[in-house]
Amino acid sequence: MDIKAYLKEKRELIDSYLRTYFENSSLPSVLRDAMKYSLFAGGKRIRPVLALASYEACGGEPKDILPQAAAIELIHTYSLIHDDLPAMDNDELRRGKPTNHKVFGEALAILAGDALLTEAFFMMTNTNPPLPPLSKGGQGGLFSPDKPVVSPVLQSAVLRVIREIALSAGASGMVGGQAIDILSENKQPDREIVFFIHLHKTAAMIKASVRIGAILSDSTEDKIEALTTYGENVGLAFQIIDDILDIEGTTEELGKSSGSDNNKKKMTYPSVVGLKEARREAFDLVSSAIDALRVFSYRANPLREIAVYLMERRT
Ligand code: IPE
Ligand code: IPE
Ligand code: MG
Ligand code: MG
Ligand code: MG
Repeated sequence: MDIKAYLKEKRELIDSYLRTYFENSSLPSVLRDAMKYSLFAGGKRIRPVLALASYEACGGEPKDILPQAAAIELIHTYSLIHDDLPAMDNDELRRGKPTNHKVFGEALAILAGDALLTEAFFMMTNTNPPLPPLSKGGQGGLFSPDKPVVSPVLQSAVLRVIREIALSAGASGMVGGQAIDILSENKQPDREIVFFIHLHKTAAMIKASVRIGAILSDSTEDKIEALTTYGENVGLAFQIIDDILDIEGTTEELGKSSGSDNNKKKMTYPSVVGLKEARREAFDLVSSAIDALRVFSYRANPLREIAVYLMERRT
């Protein structure tokens, strides 16, 4: 299969959902502009695409879970805006453009992040049967929530998804990992600590993205378990490759400043085990991820190919 074409097609599906969701607002608002600035700056959309591919592996039709899959991109984008703030990684370039706080100021960047995170949970509640509108005409706020797709996804499944994402994004997951990442700057590199950081700040959300595909398709326990192993391994490998690219990639390729980790004396895989061993470990993790998918048919081929693609990426 042509994995590049697959990724493009699925990215466009996510983007068209997001565009419709965010375009129908007549209210002028700097906050809305700040949210859209980072959301539409050109991310890979890898997390929502993984959710779609996982749903497809379990026998579903990807477009049926767009609200739940796209919501993950809102959370991811918020995490990047906050990650770039002066008090965090203090970066000036993201997705090939000046970082959010460089354009809108720190206060609006913090608030745009807060708003994206919260909007994500609203977006996820697009279900079958639809929940009652929040105000007359169903127009709740800045955006046009229920217009783009009425998701056929059942309310009970969405409740499980919300639990899953809340846990993975918060203190037990991504935010917890980000906290240890910050607290480990300038510290003696340590294997166990960097494993904890990567497992939480990055793998938690990637694992959750894959798991929601299985949850929404009401998949069997053995398949959910296989996808959990796949997601965790791909997630860890993804952050190891990100660390490697921070050293080996160019700012132009990455759309963010290369060398940023070294400037902040971050604890990364290369800083702990060296570049060569880091690459080997990423390769092993991707092999284990693909191995875990043996319970699946050809329908999981996109997941298999995405794992390889993510390891070989330059962006
Ligand atoms: C960057 O994520 C942050 C990490 C967890 C490494 P991506 O590499 O998915 O960034 P975008 O979304 O494509 O910009
Ligand atoms: C960030 O990791 C992970 C997040 C949860 C945002 P990095 O700090 O390495 O991400 P980049 O390199 O800035 O994209
Ligand atoms: Mg960071
Ligand atoms: Mg960073
Ligand atoms: Mg990085």
